[in-house]
Amino acid sequence: MNILFIFLCLVACITGMKIPLKEDLEIENELKVINKVPIKSFHTEFGYIVDCIDINNQPAFDHPLLINHKLQKNPSFRTTITNNRRNSVNISTKATFGIQKDKCPIGTVPIKRTTKDSLISEKSYFTNSLFDHIHGNHYAEVYSDAERSDSFVGVYGTSSVYNVNVQNGQSSSAVMYIRNGPDSTNYIGMGWHVAPELYNDSATHFYVVWTTDNFKNKGCFNLQCSGFVQTSRKNYLGGRFVNTSVIDGRMIEMKMSIVQDHDTKNWWVSNENEMIGYFPASLFPDMPFLQVGWGGRTSSTQGGPSPPMGSGRFPADDKYDHASYFINIKFQYKNTNTSPEDSLIHVVSDKPNCYYAKYFEKNFAELGYALQFGGPGGNCGD
Ligand SMILES: *[C@@H]1O[C@H](CO)[C@@H](O)[C@H](O)[C@H]1NC(C)=O
Ligand SMILES: *[C@@H]1O[C@H](CO)[C@@H](O)[C@H](O)[C@H]1NC(C)=O
Repeated sequence: MNILFIFLCLVACITGMKIPLKEDLEIENELKVINKVPIKSFHTEFGYIVDCIDINNQPAFDHPLLINHKLQKNPSFRTTITNNRRNSVNISTKATFGIQKDKCPIGTVPIKRTTKDSLISEKSYFTNSLFDHIHGNHYAEVYSDAERSDSFVGVYGTSSVYNVNVQNGQSSSAVMYIRNGPDSTNYIGMGWHVAPELYNDSATHFYVVWTTDNFKNKGCFNLQCSGFVQTSRKNYLGGRFVNTSVIDGRMIEMKMSIVQDHDTKNWWVSNENEMIGYFPASLFPDMPFLQVGWGGRTSSTQGGPSPPMGSGRFPADDKYDHASYFINIKFQYKNTNTSPEDSLIHVVSDKPNCYYAKYFEKNFAELGYALQFGGPGGNCGD
């Protein structure tokens, strides 16, 4: 009896010690690759560190497809997204999530430092958070197909940023995206989300996301994998929003765009007319982008309850800011110049009892084309 006990303990103790040690080492090595040597560091008010990294030595250039990539410092186009004037509604505040009152030195870019804890927890997040085909993931959105024989080269929108209550194992996001089609062989998205496993907090963060195989092996959020080239010295991926919207109160809005550069074919990501950086063209298979969309997504553990989406409210008919919204939604074609067209617009959700979207077209004239999305979540089923 005693011998058996000692034997069991030996097995347990040895394996129990060995496995974490090996994993520890792997994690440490991975961190060394991810976290470049900073030229300057900011300790944010939120407790995390932002490093200023040599722009030519940023994580993107670890990607095998980008070894010979020529850095593009500025897009060859100018975007000033002019939103329609808003006279009859309360003026909202611009969302901020970058380095406050400062910038990284010239020649460097801000990169949120990855900690050991976040690296461990974000590994589980990646595999279970994304996309329709995974149990526990839900969506409510508006998307547009492309006109026949043309492809999208830009998508725009202004979203109200919220902080909903999200538990560990769940996430809730607003997303604006451009993609080849439902199989998401080419997909670029951006927005805001609450994702405790990615950030070790329950705050709202700015994110970008991409894939070239519908999240099977390629692509990720932010800099979980290399790919995104950062050019802004102020706004960085994964930045935490300083303020978020209050239901029936002040609105915090983020103006976003994803636009393809006509010279380099790189995909530039901006907020408030500030270019944050781009996804190099060489990351993506050469195929047309035939859908653009705006809406919300949630994820939960399989069989578990789903978190609120958007502001946690369902869309309303008569008030544009009742639920979380996208206003001034626009897109740009390669060849033609048109506005959203009813016959090409789809309003979809997979669990209408929990969340849905509502498309307003131009019901609120001063907001341009607009939509609301969201809902309380709960036991939505898989
Ligand atoms: C502006 O906001 C205030 C308080 O948040 C609200 O009472 C008022 O109705 C709003 N005005 C409009 C035009 O939405
Ligand atoms: C956030 O909100 C607080 C309170 O309304 C305000 O004092 C502060 O200036 C805001 N900060 C930013 C960066 O918008």
